[in-house]
Order: sequence, then C-alpha cells, then structure tokens
Amino acid sequence: MNIHTNYSLKSLNTFGMDVYARQFASFENPEQLLQLQEVSNEFSKCMVLGGGSNILFTKNADRLVIKNEIRGIEIVKEDGDDVYIKVGAGVVWHQFVMYCIENGFAGIENLALIPGNIGASPMQNIGAYGVEIKDVFYSLEAYHKQEAKTYIFYNKDCEFGYRESVFKKKYKDQFIINRVTYKLSKKPAYNIEYGAIKQQLEIMGCKDLSIKNIAAAVIAIRTAKLPDPKKIGNAGSFFKNPEISDTQFEQLKKEFPNMVGYPVKPGLVKLAAGWLIEQCGWKGYREGDAGCHPLQALVLVNYGNANGQEIFLLSEKILKSVFQKFQVTLEREVNIL
Ligand code: FAD
Ligand code: EPU
Repeated sequence: MNIHTNYSLKSLNTFGMDVYARQFASFENPEQLLQLQEVSNEFSKCMVLGGGSNILFTKNADRLVIKNEIRGIEIVKEDGDDVYIKVGAGVVWHQFVMYCIENGFAGIENLALIPGNIGASPMQNIGAYGVEIKDVFYSLEAYHKQEAKTYIFYNKDCEFGYRESVFKKKYKDQFIINRVTYKLSKKPAYNIEYGAIKQQLEIMGCKDLSIKNIAAAVIAIRTAKLPDPKKIGNAGSFFKNPEISDTQFEQLKKEFPNMVGYPVKPGLVKLAAGWLIEQCGWKGYREGDAGCHPLQALVLVNYGNANGQEIFLLSEKILKSVFQKFQVTLEREVNIL
C-alpha cells in the first residue's frame, strides 16, 4: 500500500481548505483496507474521507487520512415491487441517483445532486425535498477500526434522525463504511409536496410525473439557489434547522410574525435557520474571503483564500447573533475538524 506523507487535501474538500494530511492513502477494496491496517501503526485513529463535502478543516489533519474508493453497483435481490442494490462507499451519490433513474428504480429522485459519496449518505441520513436516506436504506457493511471486524447494520441499528445516525453519536469515529444496500421501488410513489417541486415542474412544462422529471426539477431548484462548490467553496447548509417547543414558537411569532416554522411532531416546531440568519443581517455578508451566501444564508462560503478558522469564527458570530435576537441556539451541521 502506498502511504503518502504531508499530502494536500485542498482538492479533496469542497470548502477548498488548503490543509495537509500527515499521512494519506486510498483503498479500492476491503482487502486493501486490511493491508493498510497491517502497514500503518496509525490506522486505529485514522480519519475516513468521502467526497469532503460536509467537512470544514480548521487545521492540518495530524493523522492518517484514508479515502474510501470502493466502487461497484450490484443488484443483490429483486422481487415484484422492490430492488435491493449494494453500492460501494466510493461511488459518487449523484451518479447512483442517475443510475436508479435510468433503470426506473424509485425512491431517491428527490435527493438528486447532493454532493458526496455513498459511504457518507447514512452517516448523517442525508435528506432533501421531503426524503431522507432512511426511507430507502436497507443495510450497510462497516469495518470496526479497533476490533478489525466487519459488522452489518440494518435500518433500526443506525438510529437515524434529522441529519443524525449512530455513526455520529455513540459509534463516532469507530467504523469505516464500505458498502451500503438500498431498497428501491419499481412502483414509484411520487413525493412532490415539499418546497417548490410542483411549481418547478409547471415551469418546466412537465405534464407527466416521472422520477426523471422530479429529479430534473430538484436539480433546477438546487442549481438556482445553492452555490456550486467547483466555483465557490462551501459544504451546503452550515447549520441544522433548529427545533423548538411550540410554546416558544408562539411567543416568537408574536414578535416576529413572518418567522418560518414547520410542525415536526406534537409540541415541536422546526425553524428555518436560513430565515433566522437572514433576519440578523448576515445574508450576503463577506469578511475577507469568508462569507454568508447571498442567495442562501444557511450556506457559508469560501470565496477563495479563507481558512477554516475564518469560516469557523464567522459561524460563531452568526450563532451568537441568532441567539441574541431569538434565544434559539443553532447547531452546526458540518463536521468541524
Ligand atoms: P465527507 O464530507 O467526506 O465526510 C463526512 C463525514 O462522514 C466525515 O465525518 C467523514 O469522516 C465521514 N465519512 C465519510 N465517508 C465515510 C465512510 N465511508 N465511512 C465512515 N465515515 C465516513 N446534505 C444533505 O443531507 N442534504 C442536502 O441537500 C445537501 N446539500 C448540499 C449541497 C452542497 C452544495 C454541498 C457542498 C453539500 C450538501 N450537503 C447536503 C452535505 C453533503 O453533501 C452530505 O453530507 C454528503 O453526504 C457528504 O458526503 P461526502 O462523501 O462528501 O462526506
Ligand atoms: N430561507 C430564508 N432565507 C435564506 C434561506 C432560506 O428566509 O437565506 C427560508 C426560505 O424562504 C424557506 C426556508 O427558509 O422558507 C427553507 O429554505 P430552503 O427550502 O432553501 O431549505 P433549508 O431549510 O434552508 C434544507 C436542508 C438542505 C436541503 C433543503 C431542501 C438543512 C440544514 N438543510 O435547507 O440540505 O437541501 O432543505 O430540502 O436541513 C444540507 O444539508 O447541506 C442541505 C443543503
């Protein structure tokens, strides 16, 4: 196995942070992972990298960074209604979405164009436009770094929540996800209630609903409001949308009648963090090369040469001002390293 030292991660994270890994290696199959474990005495503390689209590096990675490049898309089981597809962690998520659309497998068309790779999709239960990965997730194979053993996790084992899973909580940094199996449907149940999907389908003149049309609508909406990391460094939503009690929401509504909130379950309301941040005056704000995107206040951006500390400090300022104005605490969604 080839282990590089002092390896640049600049092109491997979508914020474009100019940081280095003390050691770096990539692997294309579980056997290579075992070899890596044999040759590196830092393996048990290594960090796994996918597409680097949900990470803010605030400093160099003073450890072994391994990039999971396991490929392959394989149908492992099929019945009248469903198809079970096992996918390598290194496959690009959007390519898998496109594969499903071409083959008529429904369930992830609303998740088109989310950056990153398959391996990270269950990490934070990726979601968009009314669908989350937990809705189509069947199982995954993950390698325990210290026990040197592969485990299978089924849906209930992953304890999925809003941008949460067991891999971000009690099993944080313990597992390397190598393959994920999704259960997709041959009989689509279209989900177009969320956001601007219906409107976008009308604009595009789509008369017939299909998974292809829905994906096209989602792609159009996302392209219009989210910055392309190839052009402006970012990691999508920097914060989660906060959940507060309905009593607090009612109180806030008296003072801020336009506040955006959606009931999530009895007694709990989810607020739009983008709205809160915009109301505090941050939308379009720029300090050096660190900024808050002019079209989506929830997305912090690197216009070129900002470093991770600068982006992090900006996020601190935003957190504080949102708390001061609304007494609501934002939680970062991006992994800070
Ligand atoms: P990385 O950033 O490489 O890693 C993320 C975390 O997972 C790290 O802690 C890493 O160590 C860990 N990890 C990665 N791969 C593995 C593995 N194989 N085994 C174990 N741990 C692993 N997210 C959404 O949910 N919805 C959206 O709509 C959305 N929109 C976005 C839009 C833009 C423009 C951008 C830049 C990001 C957006 N994101 C969104 C966030 C991001 O795309 C997802 O979190 C994605 O799943 C990250 O994948 P990745 O491969 O880049 O993970
Ligand atoms: N809003 C504002 N100002 C802003 C941004 C948003 O007022 O600057 C308001 C909008 O007007 C709307 C509401 O906030 O009423 C929600 O905005 P939007 O539909 O753009 O979605 P979001 O809540 O900002 C979430 C996810 C996105 C996901 C979209 C679509 C989180 C943290 N973010 O964003 O996921 O793509 O919904 O489902 O849940 C990500 O996780 O990285 C991500 C991009």
